[in-house]
Amino acid sequence: MKDAAFQQCIVPTCGATYSVQETKVACDRCGGLLDIRYDWGRLPLPKSLSFFEHRWNTKGTGTQGRLDFSGVWRFRELLPFYRTEDDIVSIGEGRTSLQQADLLAKQMGMTPGSLLLQYEGLNPSGSFKDNGMTAAFTHARMVGAKKVACASTGNTSASLAMFASLAELRGVVFIGSGKISIGKLSQALDYGALTLQIQGDFDDCLRRVRQIWQDRRNGLYLMNSVNPFRLEGQKSIMYRILEALDWQPPDWVIVPGGNLGNCSAFGKAFAELKELGLVKKVPRLAVINASGANTLNVLVNRQKLTWQAGRYDPTVIQKQYAAMDEGGYVAKTIASAIEIGRPVNLPKALRALDAMNGVVREVSDEEILEHRAMVARWGFGCEPASAAGIAGLRKLLDERVVSPSERVVCILTGHELKDPNATVKYHTGIDMKAAQDTAPRSAPHGKLSNQPVPVEDDLDSILRAMEGDISKTR
Ligand code: F0G
Repeated sequence: MKDAAFQQCIVPTCGATYSVQETKVACDRCGGLLDIRYDWGRLPLPKSLSFFEHRWNTKGTGTQGRLDFSGVWRFRELLPFYRTEDDIVSIGEGRTSLQQADLLAKQMGMTPGSLLLQYEGLNPSGSFKDNGMTAAFTHARMVGAKKVACASTGNTSASLAMFASLAELRGVVFIGSGKISIGKLSQALDYGALTLQIQGDFDDCLRRVRQIWQDRRNGLYLMNSVNPFRLEGQKSIMYRILEALDWQPPDWVIVPGGNLGNCSAFGKAFAELKELGLVKKVPRLAVINASGANTLNVLVNRQKLTWQAGRYDPTVIQKQYAAMDEGGYVAKTIASAIEIGRPVNLPKALRALDAMNGVVREVSDEEILEHRAMVARWGFGCEPASAAGIAGLRKLLDERVVSPSERVVCILTGHELKDPNATVKYHTGIDMKAAQDTAPRSAPHGKLSNQPVPVEDDLDSILRAMEGDISKTR
C-alpha cells in the first residue's frame, strides 16, 4: 500500500508517483515537476484552522515545544511528509509577523486597515527561505543526505549555510561571480559553507548544480525550490497570514516572482485548504516580475499562456526560451533576488494563478527602488526584490484591478539589510560596492576564515574545486 504521503508528477497525463524516501527534482517518466501529495483521509486532520492557535504561545524547548515554536511546524498536520517528529530539522524559523501598514497605505491611496505587510525578512537568516529550508533539510535527514547544495543570488545560500551548519551537513553554495550582496556572502562564509563563485549568473549556477546533482556519484542533495519539499515549508507563510487575520483570508496576496517557488507554494496551500474544507474563500494572487526578468509576465500576458488543467502548450515556453537565446537575453535587474530568466517552477506558477484567479505584472527598477524606499520610510524596510510587490500593487491600484479598500497582503520576502549598497546609493548617489571592489586585499588570518573559491563556469573546474572538500562534513 502506498504511504499517506508521496511524491507525484504534476503533469496530469503522467501522474507518476514516488515514495517520499526518494530524492528527486523531476519525474523519471516525463521530466515534469513533482508535488508532495497526501492521502488526507488516512491522516489526522484538524476540523478547523483555529486548532493551530494554541501552539503560537508555546515555549521553544522540548520536542513538542520546539515544533510548536516554529512558524512552519506548528502547522505540521498540513505538511505531514516526515516519518517521525525526530526527523524535523528546525531552528525556530517562521516566527514572522503580519503588520497593518496604515502609514504606507495612506501613501498608496488605500483605506486604513487594508494594506498588510508580511515581514519574512524576520526569519533567522533574514529571508523567507528558512520556511522552505526547514522542510527540505527534514527530508534530507530522512534520506540520509550528507552534502547539500544550492545555486543562489544570496538568500538561499545564507539559509542553506545556516541550516547545514546546525544540522551538521556539508553545505555547498554556487553563486554567480559578482552577483551576490555582501551581506549574504558574509553569511554563507560565516556559517562555513563551501562557497563557489562561478563565472556566470543565477541561471548558469542552477544549471551547473542540477547537472552535478544528477550524477548520483557526487552525492549532492539539491536545495533549490525545484525540490518539492522546499515548497511544502513555504506553504506556511499563507497559514501564518490566515492565523494573523483570525482565519479570514485576505482579498489579495501579492508576491515578487523569481524562480516562482513562493507563488507555487501559495497556490498549493490554498488549493489544499479548500479541498479540506478549512477555508471557504481563496484570495487572489498577484505575481510581480522585474521588467529585466519578466519571463512569466511575457508568457502570461503577451503569449496568453494558462494552466488549462495541466494541458498548457509547452511549445509556447520553448519558443520563448529559443527567442531569448537567439537575442542573447540576460536577466538584469537591481532586484538581484528575482534576476532569473528561466524560472524552474513555471508550470506550478501557472497552476497557482489558476487556483487563485491570479494576475501577473512587471515593474521597472526605478519603481522597485522608489517603493523600497517607501517601505523603509513608512514601514520596517525590505530588500529591493521584496519591494517589487509594493510597486506591483501600485500598478494594480492604478489599473483598478485592486480597489483601495480591499484587504491586500504583500509578502516582504527579504530583510532590508541584505542590500545596504542599493539603499546608500539611493540616498547618497555613492556606489559603495564599486569602492569595495577596488579596495586593497589582505590574506585572511582568522582561525575560522572560509574563503570563497572562484571557478570558471565549466563542469570539470567545478568538480575539481569540490574535490578538495569531499571529506569535510562540517
Ligand atoms: N524575494 C527574495 C528576497 C528572494 O531571495 C527570492 C529568491 C525571491 C523573492 C524569489 O522567490 O523564487 O519563490 O519566486 N531568491 C533566490 C536566492 C533566487 O538565491 O536567494 P521565488
